[in-house]
Amino acid sequence: MLKKVPIAVLCSGGGTNLQAILDSAAAGAIPSGEVVLVVSDNASAYALERAAKAGVETAVFDRKAVPSRAEREEKILSVLQEKKIGLVILAGFMTILSEKFTRAFENRIINVHPSLIPSFCGPGFYGLKVHEAALARGVKVTGATVHYVNEVCDGGPIILQKAVNVEEGDTPETLQKRVMREAEWKILPAAAEIVCKKLLQR
Ligand code: GAR
Repeated sequence: MLKKVPIAVLCSGGGTNLQAILDSAAAGAIPSGEVVLVVSDNASAYALERAAKAGVETAVFDRKAVPSRAEREEKILSVLQEKKIGLVILAGFMTILSEKFTRAFENRIINVHPSLIPSFCGPGFYGLKVHEAALARGVKVTGATVHYVNEVCDGGPIILQKAVNVEEGDTPETLQKRVMREAEWKILPAAAEIVCKKLLQR
């Protein structure tokens, strides 16, 4: 039996969720997994610097350099298979994955989404847009969700959720920051451990 599940984290931007996973792992909170690869579809993602600082290997398939989604997915799939990745974590990864991809890693892909699914999710709801929609609707409570990824965008089984209060005077930016700090950065590493532990028991 493998002692740790090899994890790949896929990111497109700042990578604060990647950082939360790396910090949790360094603190011993993800004993069942190990981040061995960071993949980005954006060559200038700050997440790549975070990975380099942590000594984690990176692979880049830039959206501008490789404009075809199918071609990018093929390249990502082959690097994941080559590295024998057991769990794929989408941490601010802004490409919606095809059914071919999700089938290839069935029950082995998780995603963090910055709302309480089923609110403010699905195609078009990503990043700040999610918080703009939550504020426009006037909700008083929002939060974050970690879920398995299947062929339905944001539709896979939910693993963890955490609620966060909306405060008077919030902007999309202040709300995004609070949801990250109070919810995403906690539940994503926790879900990674839950899923890795389950995979090791298979
Ligand atoms: C996070 O808020 C994440 O939940 C969101 O993008 C941000 C990435 O931040 N993901 C989505 O909206 C996916 N639908 P990060 O790069 O600093 O982790």
